[in-house]
Amino acid sequence: MVNVAIDGVIQKAEQNELLVDLINRTGTPLPHVCYHPQLGPVQTCDTCMVEVGGKLVRACATKVADGMAISTRSTKTKAAQVEAFDRILCNHMLYCTVCDNNNGNCTVHNTTKLLAIEHQTIPFRPKPYEVDSTNPFYRYDPDQCILCGRCVEACQNVEVNETLSINWEDPNPRVLWDGGSTIGESSCVSCGHCVTVCPCNALMEKTMLRHAGFFTGLRKSTLNGMIDIVKGIEPETGYGAILQVSEAEEAMREHRIRKTRTVCTYCGVGCSFDVWTKDRHILKIVPEYGPANGISTCVKGKFGWGHINSEDRLTTPLIREAGKFRAATWDEALNLVARRLSEMKAKSGPDSLAFISSSKCTNEESYLMQKLARAVIGTNNIDNCSRYCQSPATAGLFRTVGYGGDSGSIPDMEKADLVLIIGSNTAESHPVIATRVKSSHKLNGQKLIVSDLRENEMARRADLFLHPKPGTDLVWLSAISRYLLDNGLAHMKFLDQWVNGLEAYRKSLEPFTLDFASRITSLPEETLRKVAHTIAEAENMCILWAMGVTQHTQGSDTSTAISNLLLITGNYMRPGTGAYPLRGHNNVQGASDHGAMPNMLPGYQSVDDAEVRKRFEAGWKVKLPSTKGLDNHQMVEAIHQGKLKAMYLFGEEMSLVDSNANYVGDAFAKLDFFVVQDIFFSNTCRYADVVLPGAPSLEKEGTFTSTERRIQRLYEVLEPLEGCRPDWKIVLDIANRLGANWHYQHPSEVMDEIASLTPMFAGVNYGRLEGYKSLQWPVAADGTDQPLLYTKSFAFPDGKARLFPVSVIPASDQPDANFDLHLNNGRLLEHFHEGNLTYRTGGIREKVPDTFVEVSPELAEERGIQSGTWVQLVSRYGQVRVRALVTDRVQGRELYMPMNSVESPVNRLTSSHTDPVTNTPAFKETSVHLNVLPEVGEGPLPRVNSRFGHPTPQQGVEVERKWKRPDYATPGNGLVQLQTK
Ligand code: SF4
Ligand code: SF4
Ligand code: SF4
Ligand code: FES
Repeated sequence: MVNVAIDGVIQKAEQNELLVDLINRTGTPLPHVCYHPQLGPVQTCDTCMVEVGGKLVRACATKVADGMAISTRSTKTKAAQVEAFDRILCNHMLYCTVCDNNNGNCTVHNTTKLLAIEHQTIPFRPKPYEVDSTNPFYRYDPDQCILCGRCVEACQNVEVNETLSINWEDPNPRVLWDGGSTIGESSCVSCGHCVTVCPCNALMEKTMLRHAGFFTGLRKSTLNGMIDIVKGIEPETGYGAILQVSEAEEAMREHRIRKTRTVCTYCGVGCSFDVWTKDRHILKIVPEYGPANGISTCVKGKFGWGHINSEDRLTTPLIREAGKFRAATWDEALNLVARRLSEMKAKSGPDSLAFISSSKCTNEESYLMQKLARAVIGTNNIDNCSRYCQSPATAGLFRTVGYGGDSGSIPDMEKADLVLIIGSNTAESHPVIATRVKSSHKLNGQKLIVSDLRENEMARRADLFLHPKPGTDLVWLSAISRYLLDNGLAHMKFLDQWVNGLEAYRKSLEPFTLDFASRITSLPEETLRKVAHTIAEAENMCILWAMGVTQHTQGSDTSTAISNLLLITGNYMRPGTGAYPLRGHNNVQGASDHGAMPNMLPGYQSVDDAEVRKRFEAGWKVKLPSTKGLDNHQMVEAIHQGKLKAMYLFGEEMSLVDSNANYVGDAFAKLDFFVVQDIFFSNTCRYADVVLPGAPSLEKEGTFTSTERRIQRLYEVLEPLEGCRPDWKIVLDIANRLGANWHYQHPSEVMDEIASLTPMFAGVNYGRLEGYKSLQWPVAADGTDQPLLYTKSFAFPDGKARLFPVSVIPASDQPDANFDLHLNNGRLLEHFHEGNLTYRTGGIREKVPDTFVEVSPELAEERGIQSGTWVQLVSRYGQVRVRALVTDRVQGRELYMPMNSVESPVNRLTSSHTDPVTNTPAFKETSVHLNVLPEVGEGPLPRVNSRFGHPTPQQGVEVERKWKRPDYATPGNGLVQLQTK
């Protein structure tokens, strides 16, 4: 800490912090327009001028030094600040009272007030450009754009989509998309970073326009008339009086605009933000304080909320009668469910029933669902969809380091010198995590190695892109481990101190020579050597992986091989290191954490551990079953075998997202009784006997746990739509009709019970999670959490990690003469999974209307396929009809099909083969035959899809180019000149 004087008052400051941060912390009023703490200095506006030692400096770009004397209000300072802001204001027409951005947080409005500007020295000059409304979610108004460059900085260096720039050399600078495209046809991925950081109304969410203000919905001609009146009186009254009127209007808005914190409902990154609503209309999503994301979102979290007010929400329970559904009352439906479940339990025993919890729903809801299964029905037949994606990663980590979760946090990924991504299309599946890696790679010299079948965005950015043969990651990972051990490149000190099982592991690596690995994977030995040396040279390495690893017959073993590699290189126990299996759904981590698993009670406490059961039996006052239940894969088999007769499932489109969908559908059709709870009439509902309308995340309270083990609260943004109920209340009602006698009034009481029974969550309570506070498990009773795991030991009794030998088994469903192509599948940025939620947002549908199959240029030429050609894909299990998209993202005889389809789901093609350790389906091991159909349609992706854009990478806003303009002068240096001259 150092001492500095601000306007003569001594203040303690951190050496090297920015003056602007210090001044703001002390509460000293300082104008600053382009500075945003999460963007860092942009230096375009010059309004933050202060005097230090008699010289004017920008407070946002000057670091604190001991003994500094800073003046924020000397005459010279004030004059420079006003002069700078005057130049800003000539780019912007002040019409606050009729502006949708007049919500108390408009930087231009607030700075005008702070500097007590009454009249502009330089008059407003419109720019010779039209408003651009070609993006479905936001619009750009050049006439309101103050050229602060925040949006450019956010797009170039935070999101790192590199779409935006400013043409500083032009007589009339403006923000450009792809150097001059319309927004709609640019590379913009609609992540919304730019809109979020824009300090005024130049970039605005379309959902705000005409909705936020009391007068903003008026006809344009009326609005223009009002603006003219204001401009007419300004010379006489000055801005002071006009701003007072607008502030009165702003105060009125405060009573009708609600701002409620929630957590994103889509992927496992765990972005959180405020949702601004006016009645049931969602005005905008405002990310700012989220511990995982700050200002970041992707298109789904920022704009993908069309499902909330969708007209086809389920709003009444449905009961099947004579093969048709009819509307029913809640009492009727719940009584029927309770009666049928009791009858079936009495007739066929508790294990003839099964329960599927939702990884879209809250921790409390999963806890109640598994409690219903275990404590009320008496079966451990409970699972969630982590079986489809992340169970193998969890198994690999349980085997080697002890906890089944990410070993660090998102900041650790940023700190790593080397990030290795395996089988993860991170930029599309976990977009905000990708931004952190892209940014560290672009700005901080982080190295990036990507292994994938497709040349996805991360692969294109990587220093090294590996394209092994499908399903061979275990081989090259193990070969690299062997090479490092053989060549003295392993971290022996770490191994000696912290790791058991080295000798057995070393022996297991014998087959994995570079030569062997090269033959199996098709990666050249030289490449493997290069990867090994890059890993050895890195001080800190993180490995990120996802379904490209886990959805194979060797998903658990490959995840284990990843953790083994981290252990032999000493890449655990420090910031910037560790294992990061990227969780798919928003709460897939939490669903498993809270016991929606057939072998684990909440907190990964085994059902066959008598001590554990005793604790839960005492808490729940029941006798609990002690044998492992059926997982969701086994449930399907058991239905086919006639052993499982009834199922209660909520928030899971199992008939489309489980592999071998036709087989799963046939099973559901055989159930004697099937209850499905969802917010829409999903494909799975078609098989139900009773359908119950649940509530989406915005309509309930609870907690989600993200991929970095971060537990966060979501608050009720909107009341449940009439007829719908929060899922926890439905489970509660069913349990009580079955005699449970539960009395929870609020999810916080459920969480208190979880904490009392689960050491891993001992210190979790809603008070500690209030607002934007969060906790990363394990959480000790005193509330201490663990952003980085294993700082003192690994989670085994002796505190040491374990190397776990693995060997190669052949992949299932290999290509042959009849099924000659390998079909890969996965997510797409715009849609979440099958798209049940995201297709309900019109703008997302506009960007991606349907699914498709990616075909390599080589194969396209061989088969006479072009983008838009309809093809039939036939596997050993089913067939689909889709349009082809010819792209060099895929190579040779490898195809890729995104999951976003209800009509042609890729899982009609996938098999029932599984990873033997976890029963996770081998979704990524599918062989198909391709028939070219005679029809050729439009390309499946419209021209307005970002993939057709041409980004313009540059180092941020490049303010130096502005400073080189002949009409630029630093404020305080003399005459102000118009930029447009
Ligand atoms: S990608 Fe598009 S929405 Fe995201 S910051 Fe860039 S221009 Fe804005
Ligand atoms: S559009 Fe960009 S440059 Fe213009 S005011 Fe908004 S953030 Fe600043
Ligand atoms: S989908 Fe994932 S990355 Fe996108 S906003 Fe939601 S949590 Fe963040
Ligand atoms: S805030 Fe410092 S130059 Fe804009």
